[in-house]
Amino acid sequence: MSSYKIAILDGDGIGPEIMAEAVKILELVAERNKINFELCPAPFGASAYFSQGHPFPEETKIVCDKADAILKGPIGLNHEESRKIPVDMQPERGALLPLRRRYNTFANFRPVFLPKGLAHFSPLKPEVIGKGIDFIIIRELVGGLYFGKKEAGINEDGKRYVNESLEYNEDQIKRIAKVAFDTAQKRTKVLHNIHKSNVLKSSVLWNEIIGEVGENYPDVEVVHILVDAAATYLCLNPGQFDVMVMENMFGDILSDQGGGILGSLGLMPSACIGPNKAYYEPSHGSAPDIAGQGIANPYSMIGSVAMMLEMSLGLEDEAKNVWHAMQSVFALGFTTPDLSQPGVDAKMISTDSFGDMVAQELSKQ
Ligand code: NAD
Ligand code: IPM
Ligand code: MN
Repeated sequence: MSSYKIAILDGDGIGPEIMAEAVKILELVAERNKINFELCPAPFGASAYFSQGHPFPEETKIVCDKADAILKGPIGLNHEESRKIPVDMQPERGALLPLRRRYNTFANFRPVFLPKGLAHFSPLKPEVIGKGIDFIIIRELVGGLYFGKKEAGINEDGKRYVNESLEYNEDQIKRIAKVAFDTAQKRTKVLHNIHKSNVLKSSVLWNEIIGEVGENYPDVEVVHILVDAAATYLCLNPGQFDVMVMENMFGDILSDQGGGILGSLGLMPSACIGPNKAYYEPSHGSAPDIAGQGIANPYSMIGSVAMMLEMSLGLEDEAKNVWHAMQSVFALGFTTPDLSQPGVDAKMISTDSFGDMVAQELSKQ
C-alpha cells in the first residue's frame, strides 16, 4: 500500500474549520484508493505564536521537511489583534513568507473558475460572463517586492522613510516563464503576460525574458497587457483570459480580484510549487470576520486538496472526482452563505454540511 506523509497546518481564523472538511475528503480519498495518508498536524501562524512563542516553530519545520506535501490553512489576525504581535513575528512575515522561502515555492497556481450553476452569484452580468470564467493566474511567489531589500529609518532631513526594492534576476523570471508557457501549451495556447513596463524596469527585464523563453514555444501566442488595464479587463471581459503570468505583488492583487468576479474568495484554491516541495493553500485569508461561526466556504481548501492530489501525489483521476463532487453539490442548489444573495433561491448550508455533501457525492463516483 502506498503511503504519503501530509503536513497539516490548520492556521488561524477559519483555518481549522475549513481544514476539518479537507481532512474529511482526504480520509475518504485514502479509503477509496487503498492508500495511506499519514496526516501530521503542526502549529503554524498566530496560534503557533501564542502557544509556542513562534509562528513557524522548529517542530513544524521538521514536520514539513519530512512531508511529501503540505496542506496549509490561512493564517493571520484582524488588524487590531495583529498589532499585539511584534512586527516580525506576525504570521505573514514570521511564518508564511519563511515557508515560501524555505521550499522555494516560486510557482503559485491560482485557478479562477466559476462553477456551473454559480453564475448568478457572480457580480458580473450574464452577458459579461458569456461562456464562463475559467482561467489560471500563475504568480511568481518568492521574488519581487516581497523578498527584496528593505530598510527603514530616519533620513538626513530627520524624516521617517522606508525603502523596499522590487528585485528579480533573470533565472527567477526564466523559471516562472517556463511554467507559464508549459501551462499555456497544455490549455488554449494563449498566454497573457501582465506587466508594468511603462514605469518599472523590473517589467522591462521581465518582458525581455518572456520574449526569449517564448522563442521555444512558437505555438503559444503571447498577449502583453499592462497590469492596470488587466484589472479592468478582468471585470469587463474575463472570458478572454486562459493563462496569465505575473510577478508576485501583481499576482497577489489580481488573484483576489479573481475571487471577486466569481462572487467569493471562498472559491479560490491554490498550489505553491517549488523544485523539491509543494504546499497547497486557499488564496484567501483567515476571514476573522466570520471565524468560529461554521459558515466559511471550504471549497478553496478542498480544491487545494484536489490540486495536491493532482500535482504532488499523481492521483489525477481522483482529483477530477473531487472537483466533480463539489460541482454536484452546487448543482443540487446548496451553497455556503458567502454565495447567497437576496432573492436568489439557494439552500444555505454550514461548512461541515458542505464537506459532508462533497463526501457523499464523491462516494457515488
Ligand atoms: P480574507 O481573505 O481573510 O477575507 C476577505 C473577505 O472574504 C472577508 O469578508 C471574508 O469573510 C471573506 N472570505 C474569505 N475566505 C472565505 C471563505 N472561505 N468563505 C467565506 N468567506 C470568505 O482577507 P482579510 O480580511 O484582508 O485578511 C485576514 C487575515 O488573513 C489577514 O491577517 C491577512 O494577512 C491574512 N491572509 C492570509 C493569507 C494566507 O494565509 N495565505 C492570505 C490572505 C490573507
Ligand atoms: C496571499 C496572501 C499573502 C501574500 C500574505 C498573507 C502574506 O495575501 O497568499 O495572497 O500577500 O502573498
Ligand atoms: Mn493575497
